[in-house]
Amino acid sequence: MDYILRSARFLASDIRKSTIRPGDSVIDATLGNGHDTLELCQLVGPDGHVYGFDVQPSAVESTRARLMQAQMEGRFELYCEGHEHMGEHGFPPVSYICFNLGWLPGGDKGITTFWETTRKALEEALTLLKPMGVCTVCAYPGHEEGDRERRELIAFLSSLPPQRFNVLRQHFLNAGPGAPECFVIQKQSGTL
Ligand SMILES: C[S@@+](CC[C@H](N)C(=O)[O-])C[C@H]1O[C@@H](n2cnc3c(N)ncnc32)[C@H](O)[C@@H]1O
Repeated sequence: MDYILRSARFLASDIRKSTIRPGDSVIDATLGNGHDTLELCQLVGPDGHVYGFDVQPSAVESTRARLMQAQMEGRFELYCEGHEHMGEHGFPPVSYICFNLGWLPGGDKGITTFWETTRKALEEALTLLKPMGVCTVCAYPGHEEGDRERRELIAFLSSLPPQRFNVLRQHFLNAGPGAPECFVIQKQSGTL
């Protein structure tokens, strides 16, 4: 079978397919139009749970509509709230968390993720991950804030202790400086 090397989002999708098991609890930190959230609901199955965050009411509502249309009721809880608050809800340890940074495609480009809140959310996310749990972060450095966010992300992730986390950066070498990148963080076994 031919393997097609595609984009940052596809790597994140491949990774969650090999990480998430039916019945797991997981988090979508940036709902957007709910494409990733629907995939997560399908992967956790009827006994699993997806917690989702977005600051835009329209993103939450379009995600909810997509999930209801796909008959996913009972598998998700959506919060119209910044992901930097994910640690305040008393969620159980989760096996997977995804961040798809930037702005909503086709939406208001002024409503984008910012490093200061992304950093706080990532710190909370890494605490919520269970041992061997995985977090993927897709970053879009093709605009000014996205480039700053990518640079800060690299510095932050590079400083994580290797005894606790393995960190991977996927960078397409021949796709130009603005090409999306995917970062993958796995919590080591036996680590809380
Ligand atoms: C690239 S889009 C996500 C696309 C989505 N994963 C999909 O499949 O359609 C980024 C989203 O992050 C949201 N966002 C921006 N700041 C946020 C924050 N502090 N907390 C949660 N979501 C935020 C934006 O409103 C936007 O919908």
